[in-house]
Amino acid sequence: MNFELSEQENLVREMSRDFAQKELIPRAKQHDIDETIDPDIFSQLSELGLMGLTIGEEYGGAGMGNMELAVALEELNAGCASVGVTVSVHNSLLGSPITKWGTDEQKQEWLPRLATGELIGAYCLTEPNAGSDAAAVSTSAVQDGDDWIINGTKIFVTNGEWAGLCLVYCRTDTTVSNANGVTAFLVPMSSEGATVGNKEKKTGIRGSSTTEMIFENVRVPASAVLGEVNAGFKIAMDTLDGGRIGIASQAVGIGQACLDASVKYAGEREQFGRPIAAFQAIQFKLADMSTRLEAARLLVRKAAWLRDNGQVCTQAAAQAKLFASVISNFCADECLQIHGGAGYTDDFHVERLFRDARITEIYEGATDIQRIVISRNLLS
Ligand code: CAA
Repeated sequence: MNFELSEQENLVREMSRDFAQKELIPRAKQHDIDETIDPDIFSQLSELGLMGLTIGEEYGGAGMGNMELAVALEELNAGCASVGVTVSVHNSLLGSPITKWGTDEQKQEWLPRLATGELIGAYCLTEPNAGSDAAAVSTSAVQDGDDWIINGTKIFVTNGEWAGLCLVYCRTDTTVSNANGVTAFLVPMSSEGATVGNKEKKTGIRGSSTTEMIFENVRVPASAVLGEVNAGFKIAMDTLDGGRIGIASQAVGIGQACLDASVKYAGEREQFGRPIAAFQAIQFKLADMSTRLEAARLLVRKAAWLRDNGQVCTQAAAQAKLFASVISNFCADECLQIHGGAGYTDDFHVERLFRDARITEIYEGATDIQRIVISRNLLS
C-alpha cells in the first residue's frame, strides 16, 4: 500500500495550493460579503485546467481522475469554499455523468465547453418535496413527438445563476415506483422557458450561487436524454457517489484551514504570560483536530481510488462524506474556541470557516442519509 501522492497528484496539489494562497484567500472575505465570486476567478480556474480536470483530453480537459480532483478540491476549499463547491459540482455532477453515460454526440456537444469553463454546469435534482427523498421528484417530462416538454421547479441548485447547462431529473413515468420513473435530461439554459428563480441567502458558502431553476414548457429533443429513459435515478445516485467525494474533500479543506489558523493563532496569542500554545488544553485540541483530519483525508482518498479503479465506491464515498463533514465541523468549532471572542467577530476568517463548514453536513446527502447508505450496504 502506497500512501504517497503520485507526481501528477502532487503537481495538481501544488498548483491548487498556490492558486488558493495567491488568489482565493485574499478574495474569500469579499466573496462572502458580496454573495458572489469575482468573475476573474472563473477564467483563472479555466486557464489552470481546473474546470475540466476530470474531462477527457480528447474533449479539451485534463483527463485526470477523482484522486486529482479530491486533492485539488481540498486545496481550493481551504482557500475559499464558495469557489470550491462551484468547481466540485461543475466537475463531479456535470462533467462526470456526461463522460460516463453520454453518447458520443452528447460528449462532443457539451464536454469541450464544460472543459474550458465556457459553460458552467448545474445539477437539478432537489425539489420542495424531494430533498432527502430524491426519487420523489415531480418535475415532469412528457413526450411530444420526438421531443420532450419539461415543467417544474428545482431548488437549492448550486451554480444556478451561472449555469449554461443543467442536468435535470424529471418524472417520465408515474405508473412505476418513484425510482424507476425518473429520466435525466441535459438542458441548456438558453432553452426557451428555462429561467433562474430566487437566489438563496445562505449562512455559509455565501459566494457560491444557490438558486431555484424554473422550467416552463421547455422543449428538448430526444437527444437530450442522458442514459436510458426511466433509468435516471441510478445516474443521479451514481453521480452523487462521485459528488460526495468532492464534498468530503471540501470538508477536509475547510478543516485544514481551521487547523492552520488555530496553530498560527495559538503561537501568537499570549495569556497568563505565555503563548496559549504552551497550554495542554490547546495542544490537545490541535492534536485531536490533526488526527481526525488525517483519518478523514484517508477515507476521501480511499473512495477516490476505488472510483478511479472502476470499483463500487458507494459505501466508501458515504463514509468519507459522513466522517469528513463531521470532522470539519469539529475543527471549525475548536478553531473558533481557540480564537475566543476574536474568532466570533469578522476580524478573523474563522467565523466564515465555521459557517462554511456547516453545509458539508447537509448538501449532497445529509449526514443521516450517508448513514442510511452505509447501513443498507452493511445489511444488504
Ligand atoms: N449507484 C447506482 N445505483 C444506485 C445507487 C448508487 N449509488 N444507489 C441506489 N441505486 C439504485 C438501487 O440499486 C435501486 O435500484 P433497483 O431498484 O434496480 O434495485 C434504485 O437505485 C433505488 O435505490 P433505493 O431503493 O436505495 O432508493 P431510495 O428511494 O430508498 O433512496 C437514498 C435512497 C439514499 C435515500 C437517496 O434518495 C439519496 O441519496 N437521497 C439524498 C439525495 C441527495 O443527496 N441530494 C443532494 C442533491 S444535490 C445538492 O445537494 C445540491 C448541489 O448542487 C450541491
